[in-house]
Amino acid sequence: ARTRRYTFNVTMSTVTRLCVTKSVPTVNGRFPGPKIVVREGDRLVVQVHNNINNNVTFHWHGVRQLRSGWSDGPSYITQCPIRPGQSYAYDFRIVGQRGTLWWHAHFSWLRATLYGPLVILPPRGVPYPFSPKPDREVPLMLGEWFNADPEAVIKQALKTGGGPNVSDAYTFNGLPGPTYNACAAADTFRLRVQPGQTYMLRIVNAALNDELFFAVANHSLTVVGADASYVKPFVSNTLVISPGQTMDVLLTAAAANPSSPAAYAIAVAPYTNTVGTFDNTTAVAALEYAPGAALSSSLPLPPLPLYNDTGFVANFSANFRSLASARYPARVPRSVDRRFFFAVGLGADPCQSRVNGTCQGPNGTRFAASMNNVSFAMPRSTSLLQAHYQRRYSGVLTANFPAAPPVPFNYTGTPPNNTFVMHGTRVLPLGYNATVEVVLQDTSILGAESHPLHLHGYDFFVVGTGFGNYDANNDTAKYNLVDPVQRNTISVPTAGWVAIRFVADNPGVWIMHCHLDVHLSWGLAMAWLVNDGPLPNQKLPPPPSNIPKC
Ligand code: C2O
Repeated sequence: ARTRRYTFNVTMSTVTRLCVTKSVPTVNGRFPGPKIVVREGDRLVVQVHNNINNNVTFHWHGVRQLRSGWSDGPSYITQCPIRPGQSYAYDFRIVGQRGTLWWHAHFSWLRATLYGPLVILPPRGVPYPFSPKPDREVPLMLGEWFNADPEAVIKQALKTGGGPNVSDAYTFNGLPGPTYNACAAADTFRLRVQPGQTYMLRIVNAALNDELFFAVANHSLTVVGADASYVKPFVSNTLVISPGQTMDVLLTAAAANPSSPAAYAIAVAPYTNTVGTFDNTTAVAALEYAPGAALSSSLPLPPLPLYNDTGFVANFSANFRSLASARYPARVPRSVDRRFFFAVGLGADPCQSRVNGTCQGPNGTRFAASMNNVSFAMPRSTSLLQAHYQRRYSGVLTANFPAAPPVPFNYTGTPPNNTFVMHGTRVLPLGYNATVEVVLQDTSILGAESHPLHLHGYDFFVVGTGFGNYDANNDTAKYNLVDPVQRNTISVPTAGWVAIRFVADNPGVWIMHCHLDVHLSWGLAMAWLVNDGPLPNQKLPPPPSNIPKC
């Protein structure tokens, strides 16, 4: 194991997309940001210098951060933001994970341009458990481009109480491609391939607010990994990737054939059930067999599911199984110490209770989002981890996050009258090493919708899922406790539920939130407070001396 060192200079840099030139926050002047490469077992040190006129923090999405919570990065959860002119060094080890993860800013909506891939290679000499061995590996970050300033977009939405403006393009490694306008055609991501060779695409959905379908015309895709865990390989023509999720996928280029086209379309389109506005453009990149192949917007598209094809999404998700092999066992908790039921969804706030509100949410209210009807309020005076370390909770957090919704209702049926949410910085304490099950149930209070939930500090096993209301008597018996997939982000299905299990072996404070940034901004989050264990190596170490102050 080695120590890998990177320096992130956060600066404003000029970027042009869709004919719009503007200054955006970047890392080292690059958009998307630099690729980090480590091996399993390495220590990673990233020295961050904040040279923009805004706060910033960085999150290493999916890295477990075993006893290194001070490096996890979500602002006001594990650290105060790095202020303009300040620096902070993230310092942690990569333990028991291999595959693709990514890094992104974790303050407001800054991750719109501050993101990049984090590749974890297996230890030297350890082969991939799948075949064929890829001839080349290609990180592919799917994202969203806003012509406006994303910070202004979310600030405006929070002020008016309505939904934010949608982005102007989906992007491949920052490039929108020919389906938007003439300028965008020059900004097309081109993946050059050699006939017969196999490519491993390390795909990351870094989009702010959209789950995405992904397909390549005339090519099938073999999924071999997800969220830095191997999976039993399966073939699919179309992938569904939620914000936060990653997928390692093999693509084999066809044998040389002079009569084949010189390029094929790589396509991305949104999966959504949101009634109202969303960017429904299909974005295109090129899989190129010959250099400089002509690209027109008429490059034949691969067939993609309809934008709201929830059935397709459920069938695709059912393919994921962990290897559960001797070398990569699935340590699924068979029994559970703590069982929770979280109702997850959108709600509202009465307009009158807020200052300067012209409320543009449903029926003149403000949008809010909640778990168990609690809309998460970010602390401001300190980080939750700091408060926990010092055991100074008063005025910062309350340890009363409800273990179940206050009033059980028909989550997926007719909306109840009361759509209003409570607000608070409520956490849920867990004893060290507790085995935990959480059933995440979508609510249809403001319309059923899929929510990609991300848990910091843990990988969890996805032991069950279904449509309708979760039924403890029948659904629990159908759990997969043999080879469930291990992930850090899972979508609560539209008008359905998903059950996850994990062992609380990582002391600290860990946020769990919807990875649609608009929902996070509306409060779709909660935090676990995992207590220290009795042994010295089961305790959270003290904060590094250079940790930013609030
Ligand atoms: Cu990738 Cu808290 O997020």
